[in-house]
Amino acid sequence: MNEIVENIYKNRNISFEELKAVFDFSEEEREELFSKARQVSINSFGKNIYLRGLVEISSFCKNDCFYCGIRKSNGRAERYRLSEEVISECCRIGRSLGFYTFVLQGGEDEYFTDEVMERIVGRIKRECPDCAVTLSLGERSAESYKRLFEASADRYLLRHETADENHYKKLHPGYMSLKNRKECLYNLKNIGYQTGCGIMAGSPFQTVECIYEDIKFMQDLQPHMIGIGPYITHKDTPFKDFKSGSVKDTLVLLSVLRLIFPKVLLPATTALGTLDPMGREKGILAGANVLMPNLSPVGVRKKYSLYDNKICMGEEAAECNVCLRNRIKRIGYRVANCRGDYGVKY
Ligand code: 5AD
Ligand code: FES
Repeated sequence: MNEIVENIYKNRNISFEELKAVFDFSEEEREELFSKARQVSINSFGKNIYLRGLVEISSFCKNDCFYCGIRKSNGRAERYRLSEEVISECCRIGRSLGFYTFVLQGGEDEYFTDEVMERIVGRIKRECPDCAVTLSLGERSAESYKRLFEASADRYLLRHETADENHYKKLHPGYMSLKNRKECLYNLKNIGYQTGCGIMAGSPFQTVECIYEDIKFMQDLQPHMIGIGPYITHKDTPFKDFKSGSVKDTLVLLSVLRLIFPKVLLPATTALGTLDPMGREKGILAGANVLMPNLSPVGVRKKYSLYDNKICMGEEAAECNVCLRNRIKRIGYRVANCRGDYGVKY
């Protein structure tokens, strides 16, 4: 087998030189990398794919990340927030479609206070007691994370976006800091959440050095989930003239992470499916084991526009469900009928 692939696998680690080399792999070498990562994933999870139903609860955001379509300075973004009633209904529909995890994601919207979120999480847990609730609501205080955990939220997704200080400053306004971002992630883990970090592949100004820092940070944090998708340009952001990341680099990175973190929950993202109609399948075949279909009401989908040309804008939850299950079947995998918590034997 390819010596670099063998080394990453054996050492559960990668040197800077090796990382540079994998991004320059020939097509043949890439196939070896994907194949090894796929094997490691099957060894950890069998051919099970976990579905996470995504409910996009708000497009209001007090932050101003330069890459994101719902940043507060984007005057052209249409804003909405879902009511407690609608959020709960999306989850009940998801449950009837066979989902066991709901991800409540939104911009940093001050409407969703701890009180409001406690009520929403509590209600979903009462109505769908065999399901996990994942929150993805950005940076909050340790107290807030604690309260929502006590309200029985199970998991939290907060991509760190980049572990390189200078790169972080180029992607975010001055009042946001990498230090705070990292602190949030360590707080989440300490409180007991299954915690997810992650980055965009090919974000503006990203270098191999940045990605090397990301890997070292992840090795320290030891996240339960890692979200990796390509950066995709949004026409109404300051980064509108930067080009999108590549499917190839995203797949390479997914594979490398699968070799270093054999048990981590690793989604093949909607962004990957947006850049390539077979992107999500390719992601699974490169070691990913999670898919996140959209459960948001069709009427608000277009308003939750983080990047251009997002897929599944017109499809009802039930349609995406059938579509994804067929896609999974066609590549020889199956949907797992369980929550798919970290570390639980399949
Ligand atoms: N392209 C791809 N991903 C994006 N995100 C935000 N904007 C974009 C974009 N333009 C990702 C960020 C964020 C997650 C919810 O969506 O990594 O953490
Ligand atoms: Fe939405 Fe295929 S996943 S239509």
